[in-house]
Amino acid sequence: MIKAITGTKDILPWQISEWKRLEKTVENLMSYFNYKEIRTPTFEETVLFSRGIGEATDIVSKEMYTFIDRSETSITLKPEMTASVVRAYIEHKLSKKQNLHKLYYISSMYRQERPQAGRLREFHQFGAEAIGSNAPMLDAEMIELAYSILKSFGLKNLDIKINSLGVPAEREQYKTELRNYLKDKFELLSEDSKKRFETNILRIFDSKDEKDIEIMSEAPKILDFLSEESLKHFEEVKSYLDEIEIKYSVDYKLVRGLDYYTNTTFEIVSSSVGAQSALCGGGRYNLLIEQLGGPPTPATGFAAGMERILLACVNEGCNKEEEASLDIYLVRMEPAKKTAVFKISNTLRKNGLKTEMDYLSRSVKAQMREANRMNARFVLFVGGEEFEKGSVVLKDMETGEQQELPAKDLTPVISKLKNQ
Ligand code: HAM
Repeated sequence: MIKAITGTKDILPWQISEWKRLEKTVENLMSYFNYKEIRTPTFEETVLFSRGIGEATDIVSKEMYTFIDRSETSITLKPEMTASVVRAYIEHKLSKKQNLHKLYYISSMYRQERPQAGRLREFHQFGAEAIGSNAPMLDAEMIELAYSILKSFGLKNLDIKINSLGVPAEREQYKTELRNYLKDKFELLSEDSKKRFETNILRIFDSKDEKDIEIMSEAPKILDFLSEESLKHFEEVKSYLDEIEIKYSVDYKLVRGLDYYTNTTFEIVSSSVGAQSALCGGGRYNLLIEQLGGPPTPATGFAAGMERILLACVNEGCNKEEEASLDIYLVRMEPAKKTAVFKISNTLRKNGLKTEMDYLSRSVKAQMREANRMNARFVLFVGGEEFEKGSVVLKDMETGEQQELPAKDLTPVISKLKNQ
């Protein structure tokens, strides 16, 4: 038997309604905040991500789906959207159109991670990117936007964590300090953290190893290395959040797994899912556009994992049952012709009525069972003596009431159903 690739999932018909509800929530909230949708290709030139996300990150160094295509180009399936959105922003010279672009997306992403609950190899994100302003208000708006979507979807157990990573010069100074602090504790670190000491020292804060956590809790804190300007930016972001009464905690360990961040970073975590508790993450990336060949342009954004959100929702019981519904089921009785039923279904569907009929030559009894299973509001009996006389019989499945109608003119059926 051929099975789906490890870390990928089918979304089955009965799961679709929750996906659609989430997508609708995203679309609504994005429009209230005036974000416009952008769609970019599934794959890009590998260099976009290696340069954009950073060679030393886990994503680029070990998780990307990269291959050489038939024209010898190195291609990568997008592991995230920020780099792609920035590429599109530069390529289409969006900066010439208007100063600030507020963009959003819903798309599938690809990362070859070790699959577990809430961690897949093909997963879906929605996210937003605001390109063209350094206003702390926009950082606060990003957090507000992400939080509002999660709340509006029905999630409760949410915590917002924020931090500031400053600008590269401040971060470099901080990294030197961190290296000094860790030097004589190096042997106590886990193997992973020892590697990170060389390649991406800030990520040691992400370690789940108990000894690492203990060591890092005493480590110097990034906020003590920020310039006055960076601190002021951070203070302003917090004051905007205070103003709209959004609760957050400052988490100096929040370093994020992508290299492009400057100043504000944030995550929203849920206590309703297991180890993969980050439902959403983001922050400011004021240097990325320039790094990818565009004009110096400040920007901020976030992305949220849809599978994790849906999982949290199931665990919290905020998911909604899909209501099966059908306007009308056509029950074919002998001696009606199949073509007569087929024609009626065409008329009803053309008039916007959700219509179903039998394709399996089932008995009248079995067809009625189907109509009930599908929660049909009405049943239309086609056949029998009435049909010989040119009539069909409409049954209201709620009241049980039946009405004979001319088969040739279904206008009364249509208007009756439309008025329900
Ligand atoms: P990220 O933290 O890598 O950030 O991903 C954002 C969210 O995507 C995570 O919080 C998580 O919910 C979800 N996610 C990530 N990897 C997986 C996976 N393997 N399986 C399931 N869900 C996953 C970014 O992607 C940045 N582009 C966010 C951003 C936008 N920063 C600025 N603008």
